[in-house]
Amino acid sequence: MTTPDVDVTELLTIAEQVAREAGALVSDGRPDRVTVAATKSSPQDVVTAMDYASEELVRRRLAQLRPDDGVLGEERGLLAGASGVTWVVDPIDGTVNYLYGQPSYAVSVAAVTGPAGQAPDPRTWTVLASCVHAPTLGLTYTAALGRGAWRDGVRLTMGAGPGDLSDCLLGTGFGYRAPRRAAQGRVVAALLPLVRDIRRIGSAAVDLCSVAAGSLDAHYERGLQPWDLAGASLVVTEAGGVVAGLRGQPASDAMTVAGPPALVARLTALLADLGADSDA
Ligand code: IPD
Repeated sequence: MTTPDVDVTELLTIAEQVAREAGALVSDGRPDRVTVAATKSSPQDVVTAMDYASEELVRRRLAQLRPDDGVLGEERGLLAGASGVTWVVDPIDGTVNYLYGQPSYAVSVAAVTGPAGQAPDPRTWTVLASCVHAPTLGLTYTAALGRGAWRDGVRLTMGAGPGDLSDCLLGTGFGYRAPRRAAQGRVVAALLPLVRDIRRIGSAAVDLCSVAAGSLDAHYERGLQPWDLAGASLVVTEAGGVVAGLRGQPASDAMTVAGPPALVARLTALLADLGADSDA
């Protein structure tokens, strides 16, 4: 896909500005008791009123700042654009954490390439610029294609990662439906004896940015949606890491593996052997 003629630095500025505004709304406006506004794929897959309010804010601001671009948001779907740029938005990534008052949640805003009039696809898009803003953690990750990735303005450069899997602190996440969780449980049970430890932090965007920053060695997850993946994937790749699927495929809802290149090569082979891209 051709990259539209855009200034990625301008897109980055907009992504950060809008993500910070939404993050302030979400964290400052969090009531003492957050309630569930709706459920999605299962009763455990929840939406709060603040997910909707955050996405409304992001859409309103993007319409002012970039009126020709599309927007794909987790809660309200696709608004097709004409410019070849689509903003992929997770208004709260880690909604269950937000519901319970756990601090690991983030607003993710990313500009990606995509065919005009259609939803962009993680298997074919190019992420141009992004911001993952975690207001309660006090962390803001940014990235621009070909320019780098930063945490709170400090450039991120990923190390080589542990030489042995046994030294690897591995992040993962689980889907919301029981049959998939049963399969994911079998995979995690096979991995646990092989690694230093496993973390299930509860926000894929925070997990992936943690990989870029070195506070996790790698992350794998089946079931990530475009909004979970878009912003943080660019932070990982611009920090020098790899974001991939299994069996030579790009990252997608089938499987996403992120980390330093050598570790991702080992993990993707192992996860393929374990059939981690299947619910069987
Ligand atoms: C979820 C989080 C979670 C991941 C799930 C996602 P949401 O996003 O990123 O860590 O395991 O797959 O759906 O629903 O809180 O935006």
